[in-house]
Amino acid sequence: MDAKDVGGDLEKILITAEQIDARLTELAAEIDEYYQGEEILLVGVLNGAVMAMADLSRKIHTSTRMDWMAVSSYGSGTKSSGVVRILKDLASDIHDVNVLIVEDIIDSGLTLSWLLANLRSREPKSLRIATVLRKPDAAKVEVEVDHVGFDIANEFVVGYGLDYAGRYRSLPFVGTLAPHVYGA
Ligand code: XMP
Ligand code: MG
Repeated sequence: MDAKDVGGDLEKILITAEQIDARLTELAAEIDEYYQGEEILLVGVLNGAVMAMADLSRKIHTSTRMDWMAVSSYGSGTKSSGVVRILKDLASDIHDVNVLIVEDIIDSGLTLSWLLANLRSREPKSLRIATVLRKPDAAKVEVEVDHVGFDIANEFVVGYGLDYAGRYRSLPFVGTLAPHVYGA
């Protein structure tokens, strides 16, 4: 799927597929440098992180395993509430494991701070975070993020795993939607 397949739904492209690819190569190098050959368990947060997981994991040279969590944060369509429910838990025990959370986006930070507390209680060897996107102006809680792809403005974005009402995830770039898509 590409821009031409979604017609007039897009307002603008913020980050191109090429920019994402180049930045993920840099993040993978940071990650390899940090872990110094120690195995990493990549924990992807479904569904948004699927693209990031697929692309980032293939750029990392260190041995990795993959696991997934699905959480839902109660709230309206485009806002997170911080009240989180686990829809799918990890399949593996993370005690004494190097866990690297792979996220698509950190917006308010509420979901991630809940997830960090939850995973920390399972006593991993280390717990770090990599995210493709972050919205610094939307932060409601400070979360220290170890590997950040791009800081973006506080506007709703789709593509590269991110959806609006379940759609647009498979766009290879990150962009914003035209107001009419939201029914405006
Ligand atoms: P926060 O950090 O606010 O974000 O708890 C939780 C989840 O909300 C989703 N999210 C977005 N999804 N475009 C999207 O398609 C966005 O601009 C956006 N901002 C937040 C995302 O799933 C994130 O993990
Ligand atoms: Mg997400």
